[in-house]
Amino acid sequence: MQKDTKNKFISTILKLDDITNKSILEIGCGTGRITEELAKYAKLVVATDPNKQSIEIAKRNVLQPNVNYVVCKGEELPITHPPFDLVIYTLSLHHIPEQYMIQSLERATNTLNDSGKIIIIEPGYSGSFIEMEETFNLGCGIERYAKEITHRTITSFLRGTSTGVSANRLKLDVEASFHTDFYFKNLEDFYKMFVGRGWKGDNTRLDSFLDAHTENEGIRLVADRTAYLLSKN
Ligand SMILES: C[S@@+](CC[C@H](N)C(=O)[O-])C[C@H]1O[C@@H](n2cnc3c(N)ncnc32)[C@H](O)[C@@H]1O
Repeated sequence: MQKDTKNKFISTILKLDDITNKSILEIGCGTGRITEELAKYAKLVVATDPNKQSIEIAKRNVLQPNVNYVVCKGEELPITHPPFDLVIYTLSLHHIPEQYMIQSLERATNTLNDSGKIIIIEPGYSGSFIEMEETFNLGCGIERYAKEITHRTITSFLRGTSTGVSANRLKLDVEASFHTDFYFKNLEDFYKMFVGRGWKGDNTRLDSFLDAHTENEGIRLVADRTAYLLSKN
């Protein structure tokens, strides 16, 4: 499987902000998919994730010397570095438990310098990839509740309605949608990645769904994403 064959994540981030020579704090970096791209432009990337194993894989995958790793939850952030220019969450904010999301955004805000920004990229609701996850309960399954809560949390964080602490400190500069793709060479490639041995779903229905999304070179599924750019007033 190949994710994001057109590099839409990094091109969206670059459209939202000039990250050249910036200090970036990445929250929920996973295995370093975006970290590697960020490090090509940034002066420093501090990449964090609570999952120790993911951080170990990221360390092996991403060899640039301007990346430091910290194992921690996005709501705990024991970051003592000098202020950051940018905090980035890609597909990670909705993984933070609902009751701690605001805390994470507040801690992220506290790590920013006076002109600092936050970019959040979250999964959207449409596209064949999301249809596949929801219909066949594969991948992340149905994440509608988490997505809605995340959107509402960002809105109330910006209004400062939740705690009052963050009121007027950040504003929404941009909210934009984009699409990213997932490419599979063939059915076997898809099954290897998404269908565990214990799967009790309907293979015939899944195969015909995937057939309908097969192009000359393989299976291509598309997922809608929403990007938010928050900046200081
Ligand atoms: C879908 S992955 C996204 C990884 C990476 N940012 C990317 O775009 O490929 C979600 C990540 O959120 C992380 N995560 C889960 N709970 C978290 C928390 N409380 N704080 C920060 N990250 C968390 C997971 O460990 C996982 O690496």
